[in-house]
Amino acid sequence: MNMYDLIMKKKRGAELSCEEIEWMITGYTKGMIPDYQMSAMLMAICFNGMSTEETKNLTISMADSGDRLDLSEIRGIKIDKHSTGGVGDKTSLVLAPLVASLGVPVAKMSGRGLGHTGGTIDKLESFTGFSTSLSTEQFIRNVNDIHIAVAGQTANLAPADKKLYALRDVTGTVDQMSLIASSIMSKKLASGADGIVLDVKSGDGAFMKDEASAIDLAQEMVGIGKLAGKKMAAVISDMDQPLGYAVGNVLEVKEAIDTLKGRGPEDLEELVLTLGTYMVLMAKHAETAEQARKMLETALFDGSAFETFCRFVEAQGGQDKEARNPELLPKASIIREVSSIKGGYVEKIMTEEIGRISLLLGGGRETKESEIDLTVGIVLMKKRGDCVREGEPLAVIHANDEEKFSAAAERLRKAYLITDERPAQVNLIKNIIF
Ligand code: URA
Repeated sequence: MNMYDLIMKKKRGAELSCEEIEWMITGYTKGMIPDYQMSAMLMAICFNGMSTEETKNLTISMADSGDRLDLSEIRGIKIDKHSTGGVGDKTSLVLAPLVASLGVPVAKMSGRGLGHTGGTIDKLESFTGFSTSLSTEQFIRNVNDIHIAVAGQTANLAPADKKLYALRDVTGTVDQMSLIASSIMSKKLASGADGIVLDVKSGDGAFMKDEASAIDLAQEMVGIGKLAGKKMAAVISDMDQPLGYAVGNVLEVKEAIDTLKGRGPEDLEELVLTLGTYMVLMAKHAETAEQARKMLETALFDGSAFETFCRFVEAQGGQDKEARNPELLPKASIIREVSSIKGGYVEKIMTEEIGRISLLLGGGRETKESEIDLTVGIVLMKKRGDCVREGEPLAVIHANDEEKFSAAAERLRKAYLITDERPAQVNLIKNIIF
């Protein structure tokens, strides 16, 4: 076999066999297939797609590219959660400790920022010393001790995804259903949780721009997971505007901490409670959805979710004092409002553009080697349906460079569509797939 022939085959729209996919993933993981050939293959997949059979084979090859974690020493039904990626999506930062505070073992594998979307690991690294490079022993110990651990792909866990993820991020090949499904599910299959709850985003700020393609993606992932014997649920949620108000690593951590203290934005809180309900039910810590939700609400408002978060930050090398006093987290040097040039109602926020503005400020990677600036980003002051007067602030930009601030401010104004009539409300939770 050779990579050139496989690229040509996919370019012409043919189906790759199980052996061809396995050969390609093994060769790429071992460094025998160069990035430029894999980039061409990824682009061919973006143009011509993959069948369900190809997606399943790709997922299994990627999951088997490294070790499969044995988490059998963790007591109870271990639950993981994953998002398909959105703007301002700090859900995991709240959800994982909240669910863990009820004693549910949360064994979570997370990723870094991808395309215009942020990543949980980058956000958590806002805490001085925080590390997601845990040995398997430490991961298991933390879940047994405090019911939560979040790890990146540092161990030999789905190394094919680790390489492909970084390559897709910088080659414009993120937003393809089979590539997203195999990326997420390979990590989940390799990471050994018993139940997986997926947050599949749909809308302008998501990789799946409409509900129908988000449902297809959810069904594909739920199907792959069930085939592998996992308990699965997928919630399709709205990403036609950023989740909450903050976009950018440190800024999102602060909003997550507010939410863990029961003072979070309504949409973020609702999403966390919905996803959490399925996690608690899967782990058999409640008998009904109503009971699960009540338990979650109590933990969010009585301080136990926040206490678990502080313990989790400390257990992974971070500073608990920064979690307790987020003002100690680093800040950008320029923090300035951007005002509206028009009055009316916010009809639409171009959400992918908001994510791209955050990248422009330095919050994401331009190349695989780029360092990100954790302090920059945007805090929205107006969201869909809000009334805005001419001259009123739309958002606050956090920047470390005057030129970048000006470019970001100009683009931000254009990212708001303001009209005379209040737009209809949109449901946050669009669908649930089992
Ligand atoms: N999250 C992942 O882990 N992979 C993707 O491709 C998208 C979101």
